[in-house]
Amino acid sequence: MKVAVVMGGAGPEHQVSLASGRGIVKAIGLLGHTAIPLQIDADGNWVDGQHEAIEILQACDVTVPAVHGEGGEDGTLQGFLQQLKVPYVGSGVAASAVGLDKHLTKAVLRAHGIAVAPGITLAGPDLSDTEVAMQKLKAAGLGFPVFVKPGNGGSSFGVARATDLPSLTQAIADAAVLDPHVLVEREMVGREIDLAVLEFPDGRVDTAPALEIHSDPGQPFFNATAKYGSNATRFVVPAPLEPALAERLRRTAIEVFAVLGCEGLARVDFFVPPDGDPVVNEINTFPGFTPASQFPRMWAAAGLSYAEVVDTLLRTAVA
Ligand code: DAL
Ligand code: MG
Repeated sequence: MKVAVVMGGAGPEHQVSLASGRGIVKAIGLLGHTAIPLQIDADGNWVDGQHEAIEILQACDVTVPAVHGEGGEDGTLQGFLQQLKVPYVGSGVAASAVGLDKHLTKAVLRAHGIAVAPGITLAGPDLSDTEVAMQKLKAAGLGFPVFVKPGNGGSSFGVARATDLPSLTQAIADAAVLDPHVLVEREMVGREIDLAVLEFPDGRVDTAPALEIHSDPGQPFFNATAKYGSNATRFVVPAPLEPALAERLRRTAIEVFAVLGCEGLARVDFFVPPDGDPVVNEINTFPGFTPASQFPRMWAAAGLSYAEVVDTLLRTAVA
């Protein structure tokens, strides 16, 4: 098989994507296939030139869009590949677009009765009027501390914890630079548990043992530094969970995958409060895929090596 691996991209997760893409390229080689890496630079241009890239994509049997965040995980690359009639790994246009947008993800999940963190979404003039934001927060029963997040994005870029009016104003202004929608959510206290959902070539959708994040205690939350720049963040796989909770998270992750219309793979991230019900924090339709990333680590605990996970993704995409 000839496999194109697209990596990089104009979003802030450019470097993470290069690391994911390199891991996938290596695995494709180990599987005895031919991998052709295709980079998108930080300005969103194909490094080989768009015409060349299209020729390569169309000459390959399948493409792995290993781009995280904007321009890759948001349906735009998927739409481009679809126009080229190129089979590709993972979710289609709509699931990718909704999955990257935290506001839309929450709206769809809520409509299906799946619990998400309580919060509000600000847009337009509300973004520069903290008084309106405060009124909306109050009406939603929310008080400080809150988390402020740009509507689209990954790796926690632009996410901040606000504890008072000045830090809220600043956090909203910072997030608004990245996206026209800004979410303000109740701080979820509790365990952070990730689930890895994988679709097999026969259409079966399953999860691996859950992973628990022990984020660097020196960081205010599981932010970009705790994710990529810290030795103190630890992942525990399998997460020690009561069997009933493990089963509940498993079923919810598969339900999230289904209601968003995902394909191929997704990582569903949960908060589990000490004495409450789990809530879905977010979904990643092309989660971090370096050998050290959560998704392959979870599948390793299920007995599938990194290369075997890549093999499953490729076979499912062409099935
Ligand atoms: N958005 C990053 C790459 C992740 O989900 O792991
Ligand atoms: Mg994400």
